[in-house]
Amino acid sequence: MDIRFQAGGEDKWSADIALVPIWEGEKILETCPELGEAAPFLQIAPGMRDVAGRDKEISIVYGHPDLPYSRVMFIGLGKQKSGQGVEGAIREAFARAVRRVRAMHLTSVHIPFYCFRRLGNGIRLLEEAVYACVLANHEITLFKQTTRDELLPRVEWLAVGFRDEFVPDQARVAARRGETAALAVNRARDLANTPGNILFPDAFASKVQLAARERGVRCEVLDEQDLEREGFGAHLAVGRGGAHPPRLVVLEYAPKGHEDEQPLVLVGKGITFDSGGLSLKPSARMHLMKSDMTGAAATFAALMALAEEEVPHRVVGLLALAENMPDGNATRPGDVVTGLSGDRIEIVNTDAEGRLVLCDALTYAQKRWNPAAVVDVATLTGACAVALGDEVAGLFCNDTALAERVISAGHCAGENYWQLPLWPGYRKKLTSPVADICHTSSSREGGAITAALYLEHFIQDDTLWAHLDIAGVDWSDEGSALCSKGATGFATRTLLELGRGGLA
Ligand code: BES
Ligand code: ZN
Ligand code: ZN
Repeated sequence: MDIRFQAGGEDKWSADIALVPIWEGEKILETCPELGEAAPFLQIAPGMRDVAGRDKEISIVYGHPDLPYSRVMFIGLGKQKSGQGVEGAIREAFARAVRRVRAMHLTSVHIPFYCFRRLGNGIRLLEEAVYACVLANHEITLFKQTTRDELLPRVEWLAVGFRDEFVPDQARVAARRGETAALAVNRARDLANTPGNILFPDAFASKVQLAARERGVRCEVLDEQDLEREGFGAHLAVGRGGAHPPRLVVLEYAPKGHEDEQPLVLVGKGITFDSGGLSLKPSARMHLMKSDMTGAAATFAALMALAEEEVPHRVVGLLALAENMPDGNATRPGDVVTGLSGDRIEIVNTDAEGRLVLCDALTYAQKRWNPAAVVDVATLTGACAVALGDEVAGLFCNDTALAERVISAGHCAGENYWQLPLWPGYRKKLTSPVADICHTSSSREGGAITAALYLEHFIQDDTLWAHLDIAGVDWSDEGSALCSKGATGFATRTLLELGRGGLA
């Protein structure tokens, strides 16, 4: 979707349809009188009586077809809200509007900027509106051999209209930010929707390498020999049963003048397919485990977006890639391996593979860099999904200020986190009779916490660290206006907002 700006007032505006958000019960021609001037037919149109602004309501009012501004779509925001509630309502409303526009086979939309003024911070709301429009315009068509006619058309361009002769820089920046964030989320969704036979570790790494090269981001791929030589015993243990060997992708964005600052290090779980290994998963929902690399996808997409925006902060991304499969070489329940930290780790359940690839990546992050903070993202535990459901992700953090930053970056992104405790009393559940640590607890209770405690074992005292458990929120069975059925790309925008703010 091409984002354009149209200045100079309604005479210069054009598009198939104008999108106007409206609160329930609002008299829009009074609160937004400019609209009546841009589209005078609204003042006499009988259709205006049907515009109530209720949540999810969409009303279209038509003028003479020859007018440049002949259709206005009023999108209901529901009962009036304030603060971040407005941002959320705007995201929902514009996503719904774009889906309707597509169903009408229209291909361009106009957003009169003054429509945001009465709702709050107009610039911020413009960012969210553009974000939502770009998300709703995206379709997962990965391997469909349908012709274009069978798909709903995309909106080709979106114009933001101003009455003045000039377009404020802030508006351009906001629209660009919204677009960049949505494209990053779409990229993560596409990757997470890609099946495991196509997106295996090496294929993922090659895609990343190509994109990084285009953007001038440093990218190193450690293959199985490199991992062996460096001592990534836990990571390698996960990949043993797979036909496709594991990889660790290291991305580094270091803008000029910031080469030596302490980086924000993002670490993503990238299991391209999680069958459970020898501790095989039940088959019912096993196919969804193609998205067990959402953490890595979010890390990659966010880092590329930060590089594209040229944010003045150093950011490192580690993608811990492997496929978790059973075969004669696969790691056995009961095996003991030595991780990069030197710890001997007893592997009891091979389905708890995420924490194995992550513990080595976390160790590596602290050995190689002196991170300002480390944030890992992982579809880590079914227990987290059971505890928190599909709308809010789990957050574990060893620092109050960092936890607050993650939560507020999430608010800004429309992604919610709920902090769970790194409960010290449960550490003893990870003691092993034969090794330094066991990677799982013998009981399922508190499973999201014991997984986080296992990761915490590999974090040095002076490292600021946050762990985002996105199992449960990474996938949408029903789909919504903002997200088609399937991978949600959750955490991509949170990481992007964190990186934009900088942590050094
Ligand atoms: N990838 C899964 C977690 C998961 C479950 C993600 C459901 C998304 C939806 C993870 O590797 C896993 O299987 N974890 C086990 C850990 C257990 C064996 C300690 C789990 O949650 O059952
Ligand atoms: Zn698993
Ligand atoms: Zn997994």
